[in-house]
Amino acid sequence: MSEGLTLPLASGASLRFYDRWLQRWREWMRADTLAYLMSETPDWKPPMNLDTKPRILISEFMDDSAVAALASEFDVIYQPDLVDRPADLLEAARHADALIVRNRTQVRGELLAALKRAKVIGRLGVGLDNIDVSACQSRQIGVIPASGANAQAVAEYVIASIFLLLRGAYFSSSAVGAGQWPRTALSNGREIAGKQLGLVGFGFIGQLTAKLARGLGLTVVAHDPALAPDAPVWAETGVTPLGLDSLLGSSDIVSLHVPLLPQTCNLIDAERLSRFKPGAILINSARGGVVDEVALAAALSSGQLGGAALDVFDAEPLPAGSPLADAPNLLLTPHIAGLTVESNQRVSALVAERVAQALRSSEVNHGAH
Ligand SMILES: NC(=O)c1ccc[n+]([C@@H]2O[C@H](COP(=O)([O-])OP(=O)(O)OC[C@H]3O[C@@H](n4cnc5c(N)ncnc54)[C@H](O)[C@@H]3O)[C@@H](O)[C@H]2O)c1
Repeated sequence: MSEGLTLPLASGASLRFYDRWLQRWREWMRADTLAYLMSETPDWKPPMNLDTKPRILISEFMDDSAVAALASEFDVIYQPDLVDRPADLLEAARHADALIVRNRTQVRGELLAALKRAKVIGRLGVGLDNIDVSACQSRQIGVIPASGANAQAVAEYVIASIFLLLRGAYFSSSAVGAGQWPRTALSNGREIAGKQLGLVGFGFIGQLTAKLARGLGLTVVAHDPALAPDAPVWAETGVTPLGLDSLLGSSDIVSLHVPLLPQTCNLIDAERLSRFKPGAILINSARGGVVDEVALAAALSSGQLGGAALDVFDAEPLPAGSPLADAPNLLLTPHIAGLTVESNQRVSALVAERVAQALRSSEVNHGAH
């Protein structure tokens, strides 16, 4: 029940009815309606202490403390399952001044059209391929990603995958538990030190991965067309810039850190996979569309690739019959490279603060309080 109201009603049913009625009244009496009434009739005052704070709609999970921080200042609707209820999402979007999403809410088309009041979209993560950014720009809706806030989680995922795949021995738990002793078969694991790591994309995550990798004795090369060969970042990180084909042909491990764009779609296709060093390892924690999954499964089955770790897929969850299901030396994870307890807190706090700043400085009419 709302603060500031003393209701002469006692039964639970009456209270629920009154609460629903009040909710409707609040929806209707949103800031713009109030502003209109007050500008037309300067002496008019709203009949009760209405909550007309800007509304933030959160359609996927967010760290509780960040939600609480937002709720102390704004009208927050937090429904982590809203992404799976499209009709409810559309209805709620009509009343939102800000929308906060992860990567499952597709902010385009019908949903974008419903966001008539919205001034800002917060993205709990990096990679804006689930948001029609140019349509947001043309409607002057700001888009705020959590750039850098989950880089440590992804970089650690990459390093762990390199250890697991090069050594190979960690796949033996069920065999050893069942009394087998595959010691000879698992004696050919490789060490990480002295290998070459090739990073495709050298932004936040690529650079942090390079730092961790160099600490372990890897040589690191990277390809990123946005960075000139004389850009200071190469000297600062101790990483050598290389063309894509040279990188693929000379690296023991290739890790992808590019956004999904028309230029990066199917970047690693059958032809490029054939240029990898025999036995090399591929790690994709960027986006599914960057790698041709059928070609990758074939390269693993033929032994051309020594192993792969995939956190992201063309279709998520993986559809039945995917060629990846039976491919050897393959680690599959459900799009969690960037998700840890710590990164969830950092990402949520960053997006909460930036969305709050955007709402404070936007022209949203806060109405009467
Ligand atoms: N699996 C996960 O949980 C997870 C988490 C975070 C990010 N990601 C993905 O990782 C990507 C990278 O994240 P980031 O924080 O490092 O982003 P970023 O924007 O800091 O870096 C991306 C880099 O890719 C470069 N790039 C663009 N096109 C390229 C191309 N054709 N070839 C080589 N480089 C190219 C850009 O110049 C940029 O430097 C995100 O776009 C996202 O898709 C996945």
